[in-house]
Amino acid sequence: MAQEQVARAKRVVLAYSGGVDTSVCIPYLKQEWGVEEVITFAADLGQGDELEPIRQKALDSGASQSIVGDLIDPFIREFAFPAIRANALYEGRYPLSTALARPLIARRLVEVARELGADAVAHGCTGKGNDQVRFDVAIGALAPDLKVLTPAREWAMSREDTIAYGERCGIPAPVSKKNPYSIDLNLLGRSIEAGPLEDPMVEPPEEVFAMTRSISDTPDEPQVVEIAFEQGNPVAIDGLALDPVSVIRRANELAGLHGFGRLDIIENRVVGIKSREIYETPGLLLLIRAHQELESLTLAADVVRYKRQIESSWADLVYQGLWFGPLKQALDGFLDCTQATVNGVVRLRLHKGNAVVIGRSSSSDSLYVPAMATYGSDDRFDHRAAEGFIYVWGMPTRLWAASRRQG
Ligand code: ARG
Repeated sequence: MAQEQVARAKRVVLAYSGGVDTSVCIPYLKQEWGVEEVITFAADLGQGDELEPIRQKALDSGASQSIVGDLIDPFIREFAFPAIRANALYEGRYPLSTALARPLIARRLVEVARELGADAVAHGCTGKGNDQVRFDVAIGALAPDLKVLTPAREWAMSREDTIAYGERCGIPAPVSKKNPYSIDLNLLGRSIEAGPLEDPMVEPPEEVFAMTRSISDTPDEPQVVEIAFEQGNPVAIDGLALDPVSVIRRANELAGLHGFGRLDIIENRVVGIKSREIYETPGLLLLIRAHQELESLTLAADVVRYKRQIESSWADLVYQGLWFGPLKQALDGFLDCTQATVNGVVRLRLHKGNAVVIGRSSSSDSLYVPAMATYGSDDRFDHRAAEGFIYVWGMPTRLWAASRRQG
């Protein structure tokens, strides 16, 4: 949105991360766009103890008020758990750890703006990422009357210019030559981009990882874990019942300890470019792996197959910022309906970067019938019935082959 259109915004609530772009947004909105009051909102999504310095940094950068909101519990219950139930992996690999946070931040940002009587919200996303799409579309759905100010999309400053602008306003440059990465983090994982990683042939250095151990530092002994699910939600690990946030924390610890959950991928962004992305999402990937396995035991064959298509569409629309759209709602209806029988336990062995499923069971909902599956003497399958089935099943193939022979 150009300067002349925003001139009337007096009080703005800015989504704040403490990074260079969002910090520079504060003086920029005031000095260049004449905003009178910038209030920052930083979301606690389980990234840990870094929030107090972030809160202070917003004030030091000129914010009139700096709010930190604890969103950890809704993040896991309303966003991560549905993603596990959907086995959501964008392009078959990325479990959406960053993408899932954006609609929640947008929702809270809008609420804060309403509570404080702000006439606009703002974010510091650049014009070539996915996050701008997610924020703008979500805010547009939730509060179509609220202006969205996007200085970092307008200011045409290079990263160096932005840092220099910030330094002139007393904002210290947080990204040094030693730490050239762009990092997004929350309880579900970390995404690491930029610096040397922009060359897709450069192997990510060990220093970029924080939640997962390098294979050389993982225990030599394998560790067996058991994850229990109720209606598709993970509810216990190794027999210990855990609330949703604790399940994620425990899964992160276990998988991270064994070096499971790192990704190095080329990803297709919404804006049409390919980017090289490093992720570590140990717990989420472990839980999805286990959940997929339990579904293979408890869902009918046609439902599992059909669900794979729904999962892929669901992951696409979450990635593409359409969380609050009609297709998301409709697909959720299907997903919810399938999860009633996804109850049971999956056993996995963690070892040296791998999480291998070694067992699964469901006392209430298993569709695996031993008397049908066995090759032993208690086999109940009627082998002779197969002949008639194959006669009909193979009919089209035989007719087609015969016509080819005659022609
Ligand atoms: N490419 C990932 C995604 O679209 C990660 C984005 C990271 N965002 C950030 N502001 N650093 O979900």
